[in-house]
Amino acid sequence: MNNSFIIAGVMGWPVAHSRSPLIHNHWIRQFNLSGAYGFFPVQPNNLESAIRGLQALGLAGCNITIPHKVNAMAYVDWVHPLAKRIGAINTIVVQPDGALHGFNNDGFGYIQSLLDAQPNWRADAGPIAVIGAGGAARAIVVSLLDAGATEIRVINRTHDKAEEFAREFGSAVFSVKWDAREDALTDAALLVNTTSQGMHGEPALDISLSNLPTSALVSDAVYIPLETPLLKEARLRGNRTVNGLGMLLHQARPAFQAWFGVMPEVGAALYEKVAKTI
Ligand code: ATR
Repeated sequence: MNNSFIIAGVMGWPVAHSRSPLIHNHWIRQFNLSGAYGFFPVQPNNLESAIRGLQALGLAGCNITIPHKVNAMAYVDWVHPLAKRIGAINTIVVQPDGALHGFNNDGFGYIQSLLDAQPNWRADAGPIAVIGAGGAARAIVVSLLDAGATEIRVINRTHDKAEEFAREFGSAVFSVKWDAREDALTDAALLVNTTSQGMHGEPALDISLSNLPTSALVSDAVYIPLETPLLKEARLRGNRTVNGLGMLLHQARPAFQAWFGVMPEVGAALYEKVAKTI
């Protein structure tokens, strides 16, 4: 082993369920690179020393996952402006001088997953209904705004949080009361669930799609199961659907490029390999 052996990994707690090692090691093999991507189980009280240790260990960087995405921002030397707006990082890249730079590629992954399903997708095709106002919603709303969205309706069970979104993210973002969620679908071009409702072990998202145009794209940030009850209902009534696996796979691409120097693609073989684990 020499200095060109590149090591990265994912920091989370717990982290054993993460698909990131499968994804990155697939690309390491595909490009015949010298390196490895591992699991870094890091308890919250060790987060700062684990992040500071990246440079000392000679690592290229790491992904940051639950529950560290917000707190990790405090321990890097520089945060990308997009990640600052999102309020969380999911990637750290150790710079040649040892400085730690923080990025958030979740929104990039989300937009790419829509483009995979519909290459001519446009953010300004019509109103966008976003369900939820947590961390996943922040990454998705910011990236939709940057992609040119002109009207985003944030629908959240706790209305105060939806209102905070509207205040924080500007005039294209509107808050919708939970009770009005079905009215907000009437002329929507895109519906996205950012909550954990519909995830394995959770109840389905409580919403009827009967007002949604069948031309609308319906997406879910949840990827376990690949077809949530929301996506199944959408598919059966004729809507095009996008599951959460595309977002997970695509968010990994810019991080891989930063560490290993090659921008990988999400091919059918990788999609199938990861889908088989779900
Ligand atoms: P994440 O970082 O994964 O987005 P989070 O920040 O905890 O997680 O946000 C969870 C989101 O799911 C919130 O918008 C939450 O709504 P509240 O703000 O009302 O808590 C939403 N959520 C969770 N359980 C829900 C449920 N049973 N019905 C509707 N929304 C729910």
